[in-house]
Amino acid sequence: MKLMVVGGGGREHAIIKKLKENKTVEKIYALPGNGGMAEDAELVNIGAKDIDAIVDFAVKNQIDYAVVAPDDPLVLGAVDALEAVGIPCFGPRANAAIIEGSKVFSKNLMKKYGIPTAEYEVFDDMDAALKYLETAPIPTVIKADGLALGKGVIIAETREAARDAVRSMMQDKVFGKSGDHIVIEEFLTGPEVSVLSFTDGKVVVPMVSSMDHKRAGDNDTGLNTGGMGTVAPNPYYTEALAKECMETIFLPTVNAMNAEGRTFKGCLYFGLMITPKGPKVIEYNCRFGDPETQVVLPLLESDLLTVMQATTNGTLAETEVKFGKGNACCVIMASAGYPSAYEKGFLMTIPEAVRDTVYVAGATLDSEGLKTNGGRVLGVTAVADTLPEAIDAAYKKVETIHFENAYYRHDIGKRAMEAYGK
Ligand code: AMP
Ligand code: GLY
Repeated sequence: MKLMVVGGGGREHAIIKKLKENKTVEKIYALPGNGGMAEDAELVNIGAKDIDAIVDFAVKNQIDYAVVAPDDPLVLGAVDALEAVGIPCFGPRANAAIIEGSKVFSKNLMKKYGIPTAEYEVFDDMDAALKYLETAPIPTVIKADGLALGKGVIIAETREAARDAVRSMMQDKVFGKSGDHIVIEEFLTGPEVSVLSFTDGKVVVPMVSSMDHKRAGDNDTGLNTGGMGTVAPNPYYTEALAKECMETIFLPTVNAMNAEGRTFKGCLYFGLMITPKGPKVIEYNCRFGDPETQVVLPLLESDLLTVMQATTNGTLAETEVKFGKGNACCVIMASAGYPSAYEKGFLMTIPEAVRDTVYVAGATLDSEGLKTNGGRVLGVTAVADTLPEAIDAAYKKVETIHFENAYYRHDIGKRAMEAYGK
């Protein structure tokens, strides 16, 4: 089989490495991929948002199955366009990807179908939003409606900060059209859990749970990032919670999407907060998380391609999806300065012995070798029987990888260990 993976980060590298385990896979193209994946896939210089060029490439190269990994092409209709030319695809169509593409849509969906989430109001007029803030409980959470590179959520600790957030989104348009509509919602507290799931629109099969570390600095200080590390499973996610989430959140969401005529197939990501009043949805993503994928897929024992095809064909109920009992830890190595300004173009050394579990997010390959080319440069994953062993092994591998200006957090997994009471 000839496969194509759209996207170019660490998540895509983890997907590609897992897909390669299937013996029927002869070739995987990455569009655009990055230099750090060149050993695992053939890089094709087509951007993930260039839908016409993606379809053209897929047809000319007789792709048997495509995986569209990032949010942008999914929301733009890459799956619809590929299906229209007869290429089966992993991922939701645009009318279902809207569950991530519009926070107004997802909040209204949850309200309509009684799915637990933070209380909220939607505004398309700045003055009305500012008036609402005069009496809104503080802290409050301001969210731009559309995709905003993961930065469209502001937690305002004061009324003034809340007003500034509204003005920056609705007046200064810092997120462009994404700020035309905003959601102002209740501030929730509790541990966060990421649950990625496979769904074919009929059944939902949750993957092993995980915990992201979003802030740039140790002990959850500094700016929000795309994610500085992950562990799986997430100790806060007990079996009782998993059962409750299936009944009150996962199945109701898939059923709600069907009822709206927006059947979701692919990976549906539930960003949950375990509040004192029970689990609530903080966000939906229409795709695998990054860097959650880098800990979840290494624990998957079943064949990824078979499971993905089952979501497309509607045969997930009959397909085995099995996860190992181990623990995984992924530490992101970034360029110093990320998520603000950083330098790039530094030569990298990744010893052969650890390459198996290194997922490269931002690198270029030229005649001199592999060079850094992004804020998040790579993720290093280790799997072990216990969490402390996985953490220890991941950091040992990190120490063997070198590039100038490398930065990483030293406390990935610490909160999870505390949850275990250690
Ligand atoms: P999102 O992009 O929606 O995942 O939001 C980014 C982060 O903001 C989440 O991972 C939470 O840590 C935080 N967050 C979002 N919504 C809320 C909320 N209603 N209450 C408290 N924290 C929130
Ligand atoms: N790591 C969070 C996300 O992928 O949205």
